[in-house]
Amino acid sequence: MPSMPRNLTHLTLATLLLSGALSPAPLLAKPAAESAPVDSTGWEKPDPKMDRFIADLMAKMTLEEKIGQLSLLTSDWDSTGPTMRKGYQEDIRKGRIGSVFNAFTARYTRDLQRLAVEETRLKIPLLFGYDVVHGHRTIFPISLGEAASWDLNAIEKSARISAAEAAAEGLHWTFAPMVDIARDPRWGRVSEGAGEDVYLGSRIAEARVRGFQGSDLKATDTILATVKHFAAYGAAQAGRDYNTVDISERTLRDIYLPPFKAAADAGAATFMTSFNEYDGIPASGNHYLLTDVLRDKWGFKGFVVTDYTSINEMVAHGYSKDLKQAGEQAINAGVDMDMQGAVYMENLAKSVAEGKVDVARIDAAVKAILEMKYRLGLFDDPYRYSDEAREKATVYRADFLDAARDVARRSMVLLKNDGALPLAASAKSIAVIGPLGDSKADMIGSWAAAGDRKTRPVTLLEGMQARAPKGQTVAYAKGASYAFEDSGKTDGFAEAIALAQKSDVIVAAMGERWDMTGEAASRTSLDLPGNQQALLEELKKTGKPIILVLMSGRPNSIEWANDHVDAILEAWYPGTMGGHAIADVLYGDYNPSGKLPITFPRNVGQVPIFHDMKNTGRPIDPAQPNAKYVSRYLNTPNTPLYPFGYGLSYTSFTYSPVTLSKTSIRPGEPLTATVTVTNSGARDGEEVVQLYVRDLVGSVTRPVKELKGFQKLMLKKGESRRVSFTLTDADLAFTRADMSWGSEPGQFKLWVGPSSAEGSEADFELTK
Ligand code: BGC
Repeated sequence: MPSMPRNLTHLTLATLLLSGALSPAPLLAKPAAESAPVDSTGWEKPDPKMDRFIADLMAKMTLEEKIGQLSLLTSDWDSTGPTMRKGYQEDIRKGRIGSVFNAFTARYTRDLQRLAVEETRLKIPLLFGYDVVHGHRTIFPISLGEAASWDLNAIEKSARISAAEAAAEGLHWTFAPMVDIARDPRWGRVSEGAGEDVYLGSRIAEARVRGFQGSDLKATDTILATVKHFAAYGAAQAGRDYNTVDISERTLRDIYLPPFKAAADAGAATFMTSFNEYDGIPASGNHYLLTDVLRDKWGFKGFVVTDYTSINEMVAHGYSKDLKQAGEQAINAGVDMDMQGAVYMENLAKSVAEGKVDVARIDAAVKAILEMKYRLGLFDDPYRYSDEAREKATVYRADFLDAARDVARRSMVLLKNDGALPLAASAKSIAVIGPLGDSKADMIGSWAAAGDRKTRPVTLLEGMQARAPKGQTVAYAKGASYAFEDSGKTDGFAEAIALAQKSDVIVAAMGERWDMTGEAASRTSLDLPGNQQALLEELKKTGKPIILVLMSGRPNSIEWANDHVDAILEAWYPGTMGGHAIADVLYGDYNPSGKLPITFPRNVGQVPIFHDMKNTGRPIDPAQPNAKYVSRYLNTPNTPLYPFGYGLSYTSFTYSPVTLSKTSIRPGEPLTATVTVTNSGARDGEEVVQLYVRDLVGSVTRPVKELKGFQKLMLKKGESRRVSFTLTDADLAFTRADMSWGSEPGQFKLWVGPSSAEGSEADFELTK
């Protein structure tokens, strides 16, 4: 836990108000309440007309044409992996591929579609996919940042807008949401998901599916979602991307699978396999995952695509002796579509001839894919998504940019504040220092799809300059570099220090270059890379107040900063409108409301560290924190720097003791936990009220805390609200000793509070 109090006290606030330090600007309005909740499962309903159409079509298809529908290749408009197959246009003409990814714009997709529907024998339209992860043209905060908003409406809206822009550029299908639970910040892909928590991750997975797919797949502003990467990709050993995963089946079921299940239940149309193995079997050849769990147990009716060349990689994994066998293992395990591997294209017909693959299995895969094309309306009009007029009217719409700004400020987490924020209107001069202060490229983070990195993004400097009150100057010196190879250099320091010395406040914009997180971007250190830390320490010597604005896609180890700077704002990579959003928060036009979706360790040696750990047999006794023979480090406390669920506000919230409707419940019977939350500070603000539970004794050991609910509330200053959560035994279920799913009778603890580390506690019992 940080050493500073988690919220400003009345006294500090009063002092700041009297001194005029708090800007009187009101909170910007919340987005209009969403209308009726979206149901994205409609496509699963039986459709006899579709069945007849597909059966007729399939009756005409040769085996080669069927295999073509199972093949997906990248175009050369963008590249998201290591291989590029030349001549994909010819592959389209020959009916060798049924889908293309990394191709977009109304015009280009129309050109490619024409090849399929005018030059192939059966005129089956192509499906266009792309990684529209956190925006298409208008870029929202990286997914981890959005998760920090804990605002499901905002997250759904971001996906909705991403879908509208993508669909206007000819796309039908996004390779998102990424729902991998990620608990190892060394792994660069922590930036792409919703963080470490099963419950939060599941709710966000649903919101994103609803956002992308809407309630009608035929609508020209909705696209198919892909839930990825199935499964357990986030558990890569040592946080090294693509590395082996070796976890228990119980951990798979309790931690890694639930967000996938939630997304499937929300109606996700497609699933993507992962690069890793699970229990010795690569995911793309894993019958247990793809068939036993996904289709048989969960009833998934969409199609499964591999990750990029992951069928081919089963050879390197040592699971397949050659590509032909890899293809057989993949299709027989349940993979419908081969992404970029051309393994099905080149081998599957032979495997069928040899009796290694049943045509019925191929037919099932083809059917699942053609059905999606049908549901999108592509057989009615293959060009319906490739509309240049709609494209022009849709991308970068003003209301989309406003939404991106709004989601961005909702995503930011105030990690420390001893009163330096919001910025005082009286400050005459502000020095923005650091490599992220004026960098357009970095603002939008990785997997920013068709996002522009050169001109559109608003930098922190630009955002602050646009907002600075009259008479206040905002000047910039880069000062430091985030490049690994620049650690030890001090070239820019003198200029930055000189600027700092003549300024009233320093805003240090530091963190990681955008491509230091994301795919293939693992690190063994979580420190600020390059010479940023050294500059920060020099800036401290000027005695000026320092506000650190951290931009990164993972938790960084910033213990020194926590101990020495005056305020820290985690801004993630905030997107196209990021600079304005940061200014909104720094100047107090928006009162920060984000909470961490992932634990911030003190240093990399604490990894893995997350809130729902087990107690161990030798937990630390708080009364004797330095005792030997307990589970602890000699040199670092066990507690993280900032716990999961943590985040400050410019106001303060107080919680009444939690009360329970009952102290004992039977299975099926609801239990309601209620607290009154009061905005006890001097500003309106939002609070994320969190509910945690501990199952004290189980047939297998249980975590010390598990998130089971949350509500984000807006409270006016002085306002109090009763907040209730209702639980039943279904919320207490887990994979029991006999591997069945369910709850167990016994004693439980429950907390309602502002983070995973604080809360008002109560006890209850679940009886038989
Ligand atoms: C990534 C996926 C992505 C795919 C297509 C892969 O390398 O792991 O997340 O969807 O490329 O771009």
